Amino acid sequence: MSHTSTMISEDIEAYLKEHEQKDLLRFITCGSVDDGKSTLIGRLLHDSKMIYEDQLAAITQASKTSGTTGDAVDLALLVDGLQSEREQGITIDVAYRFFSTDKRKFIIADTPGHEQYTRNMATGASTASLAVLLIDARYGVQTQTRRHSFIADLLGIQHLVVAINKMDLVDYSQERYDEIVAEYQVIADKLGARDIRFVPLSALKGDNVVNRSEAMDWYEGPAMLELLETVEITHDQNRRDLRLPVQYVNRPNLDFRGYCGTLAAGVMSPGQRVRALPSGKVSTVARLVTWDGDLEVAYPGQAITVTLEDEIDISRGDWLVAEDDEVPLANGFEADIVWMHETALEPDKLYDLKLATRDVAGKVKAIDYQVDVNTLEQRHADHLDLNAIARCQLELTAPVPVDDYRTSPGTGSFIIIDRLTNITVGAGMIHRPLDSELPYEFREHDSKANVVWNRASVTQAMREHLKGHSGKCVWFTGLSGSGKSSLANALEVELNRRGYHTMLLDGDNIRHGLCKDLGMGEADRAENIRRVGEVARLFAEAGIIVITAFISPFRADRDAARELFNDGDFIEVHVDTPLDICEQRDPKGLYHKAREGKIRDFTGINSPYEVPKAAEVTVNTEFMNQQEVINLLLKAL
Ligand code: ADX
Repeated sequence: MSHTSTMISEDIEAYLKEHEQKDLLRFITCGSVDDGKSTLIGRLLHDSKMIYEDQLAAITQASKTSGTTGDAVDLALLVDGLQSEREQGITIDVAYRFFSTDKRKFIIADTPGHEQYTRNMATGASTASLAVLLIDARYGVQTQTRRHSFIADLLGIQHLVVAINKMDLVDYSQERYDEIVAEYQVIADKLGARDIRFVPLSALKGDNVVNRSEAMDWYEGPAMLELLETVEITHDQNRRDLRLPVQYVNRPNLDFRGYCGTLAAGVMSPGQRVRALPSGKVSTVARLVTWDGDLEVAYPGQAITVTLEDEIDISRGDWLVAEDDEVPLANGFEADIVWMHETALEPDKLYDLKLATRDVAGKVKAIDYQVDVNTLEQRHADHLDLNAIARCQLELTAPVPVDDYRTSPGTGSFIIIDRLTNITVGAGMIHRPLDSELPYEFREHDSKANVVWNRASVTQAMREHLKGHSGKCVWFTGLSGSGKSSLANALEVELNRRGYHTMLLDGDNIRHGLCKDLGMGEADRAENIRRVGEVARLFAEAGIIVITAFISPFRADRDAARELFNDGDFIEVHVDTPLDICEQRDPKGLYHKAREGKIRDFTGINSPYEVPKAAEVTVNTEFMNQQEVINLLLKAL
């Protein structure tokens, strides 16, 4: 390599060490071959002397035969080999090129500029700190300039360098340069980037790329490379919040439990109080272990293994955050999605999402709007084709901690994977969490035993997805003989006919098995209803419509059962048949026995029935026939 440094021959170790410690700038180049992108990259590689000698000899030769630059070396040939291959659609990947100077190391993500390569650009931009936007000085701001700026902005790139190229073809005119700067300013005003610079250059002639131009002495700013070498990127990192998504739990023996991952945000040190999410359990950082020994402090981007003072339950995919960081847990969020596959995104189809280190299934509930990447207009869409960019509402099958991509890109982004083919089909940037109720497992529990909650991978939403409907509970309550069992049975018949998955829990039957140890005293009835509520919840979690028929005379017991369900999933049906009618019917002869004093604690006779205050449905079997009641219930469902 013609990368010359006397250190290489004199002290290779020192050279490598110095090289290793230089910081790294990742940037993306946006533009097309016509804008001179390949020439610009070639010029950077050439003038920074990062070209292999044989490569240089080869392109010098090729320049004479197929170049477009006369006698000069056609630097575009350096990179165009790959370019043409890509633009024929042979590979869709981003080409990464590496070069370095005395001050910095660089990785260029080079992606084709056309609209059909939007996904490639988004991929390249996702790891870049800076974007170089190429503009041909002859044509000024183009549609693609707007598109590239929008995508760079979507991916949260903070530094933009607008490279106004081919200045040699406009006579190095300052006036033309100023005109384009003013044109771009209109776009710039709508972008989030806090650092936008303009450089007039000629990649072909080498003006202002690596060396300052003599032809444009009116330009007082730095040449492109100087800019790349000095742009301040350490402040781009989020050091305010603390985020360690756990990639792997390392338990080589019983004495060691370490949580491995790459610090996505913040500064971590031993002694710091941390909280595990989603469990919410807190502890203190004990050690930061690395291959080269323990660290006193770790920064974003560093791979570490953390040990904690306490044994708390943390699994892969969980996050460690600062104890007082407020991170919302949610079942859904709003996000911008870039669709990357030929098969369109369909709302309501279940996909696998990978959020930081967590895998969770989810779907797009709604597409708010798609953005026309050329005009930046928002329009309606019912699916997303390849390269589409859209603001969407996503619903997950389990709650996750949610970060805004703009403040924490490492934890605020996700990829979408097709569940059948396992192919990555899209990528997204989270905007904000959506309000949702947290499921049962995240509520307070008062189990007497020393137990943890084992999270299952298949969730209620996934089971419901297979069944084609959600799990619910229809809870019939009313006096003995009011007609609960008959109605419950008739409702199940109707639902079963319509193809719903159901289960019927009937008071008398349950007291033959699960609750055969319970009597009719107040405490035993409470326990009866508690057990039935829990069983009903399990059935609902299985994605089943569970119908229960119990007297359940006490309001507090019914309300406790209701608490186990999400809003709307518990439908209380009061079968409001007056006592005298029930007693007349007396199907099992129990009222008669109770009146004779042969049965104690009989509801309505010598034990109370507390009428529901806010039942979803109240039915009076005196005035409505069974079919009318069932129709009413089907409507309520
Ligand atoms: S609950 O009060 O705990 O909800 P559950 O619905 O399980 O009662 O059981 C009620 C059934 O048990 C009634 O339908 C009736 O057939 C029978 N039963 C026996 N003893 C009593 C009683 N003391 N009070 C009410 N029902 C009784």
